[in-house]
Amino acid sequence: MGTSGSTPSKAPPPPLTFTLQSRTELKDFGVKGGRFRLRRFYPFMMLNFDPMHALSLIFLALVLILCAQWKNSQQYPLPPGPKKLPILGNLFDIPRKGFIWLDYIEMCRKYDSDIIHLGALGNSIIILDSAQAVSDLLEKRSSLYSSRPNSVMLNELLGWGITFGARPNDNIWKAQRRIFTNAVPSTEVNRFHPKQIAATHDLLRAFAHSDDIIRDLHTWTAVLITDITYGIQGEEALPFVKTAIKAVESIAIAATPGAFLIDQFSVLKYVPEWFPGADFKRKAREWNLLRTEMTEDPFRVTKERMATGAATPSLASVALEQIDLTKDIAEQEEHIKAASVMAHVGGTDTIVATMGGFILAILMDPDIQTKAQHELDRVLAPGDLPTFLFEPDLPYISAIVWEVLRSVLHNEQDYPEPYRFNPSRFLDTDGRIDPSVKHISPAFGFGRRACPGKELALASLWIGMASILTCYRIEPEIDEHGNLAERKGSGIPG
Ligand code: HEM
Repeated sequence: MGTSGSTPSKAPPPPLTFTLQSRTELKDFGVKGGRFRLRRFYPFMMLNFDPMHALSLIFLALVLILCAQWKNSQQYPLPPGPKKLPILGNLFDIPRKGFIWLDYIEMCRKYDSDIIHLGALGNSIIILDSAQAVSDLLEKRSSLYSSRPNSVMLNELLGWGITFGARPNDNIWKAQRRIFTNAVPSTEVNRFHPKQIAATHDLLRAFAHSDDIIRDLHTWTAVLITDITYGIQGEEALPFVKTAIKAVESIAIAATPGAFLIDQFSVLKYVPEWFPGADFKRKAREWNLLRTEMTEDPFRVTKERMATGAATPSLASVALEQIDLTKDIAEQEEHIKAASVMAHVGGTDTIVATMGGFILAILMDPDIQTKAQHELDRVLAPGDLPTFLFEPDLPYISAIVWEVLRSVLHNEQDYPEPYRFNPSRFLDTDGRIDPSVKHISPAFGFGRRACPGKELALASLWIGMASILTCYRIEPEIDEHGNLAERKGSGIPG
């Protein structure tokens, strides 16, 4: 019982190290030249599975699965898909390793449908394989298809179910999402540009004396989102960042489909922590504590600072100022707290994963870096760092940002040679943005659930990539024997 996974048996990834070579002495910002190395990380997901303890629950499990299957068979017909086995359904058809999206494409071709269905242990998975199907269901009918499945582990035991990212399509989701979009309207993200620039300059300085660039990128995004969400800046943010990174890791584990048996058999939530094999309950308690700390501690600091007039503007402070005094104040505060922690969660990992993709892409094609640096050198005066004012004059940098995010968009009609990393696809023959090329916004989701942090994320990515390329050259690190150097430090996420 406990968890249904096991320690991942993946072979260690191929060596991947690189150096950052300083391109310029930026004395004003204290950035000096230097060589640094990166190494990739190993999955942190360490799940235990004790088959002896699971045996005691098998009978109950079989009965519950049969009930669920009988109930499903009484409902509307499902889209096509592989034939389902009794009890196990499509358990063995669900791709788990490698390029799983290619397996799904193959499956859709086999069943000649751009919507297919897989079912296992009482759960349903619907695969959408065309922009048309996505648009028809997730956009045009988003009132029907913008809810969330309930995860007992994540939402109930860890307690994330009170935050809007995990809510079904209900009034609490609406209230909290409104708080987020009112405090960070997508049309006014330039309000946060000074915070993004200050944090990015800190990152450039950190690179100058670092041997773990990915860790620095992690710190950069986490400190930045702590500032944007709570107005807690620089070194002061570090203790909150530590908790946030751990909490976001615990979410990633808890949200992995199939990682915890309890998500198939919710009755397991009543098993006491001392029960043999109920290790998941202990983990859930510890991870719930992380969530509480991540939710309460920075929010309390923002409130205290607002009370003394010392707060800097942030999502939480703006939302608290917008409280409607004629309505239930305590309830509104709870929603603001939950919306704030959701922003903190949403912004902690996503940007660093995308920056990891950027570094990989640059390593694979050094000409792209050269082209970007020619553009930067043409537009910026020697020793200057980019600001958002230069964005219209640096279309190739924007194209790199979009091309990194295009990793989920491989439609050949929209993006010829879809598997080639080619930022120029977004530009016309004069090197300007070509508005006829489909935008990468689907990378941020669809319909009502589309990412509310999209503009903020794009701005952080743009300033991050532009600034790094201005100051450094990213190159594979070669050891004294001319081979790729040993990995050290944190690895590229994503
Ligand atoms: C490269 C950066 C990012 C990417 C690619 C990204 C992508 C996404 C996607 C695909 C979804 C929708 C998931 C779904 O359909 O259910 C989403 C939701 C969300 N994102 Fe982002 N995101 C990024 C950055 C951010 C940032 C910086 C924030 C916060 C400031 C944020 C906050 C959220 C929140 C709160 C949701 C949940 C929305 C809801 O359920 O209503 N994201 N994101």
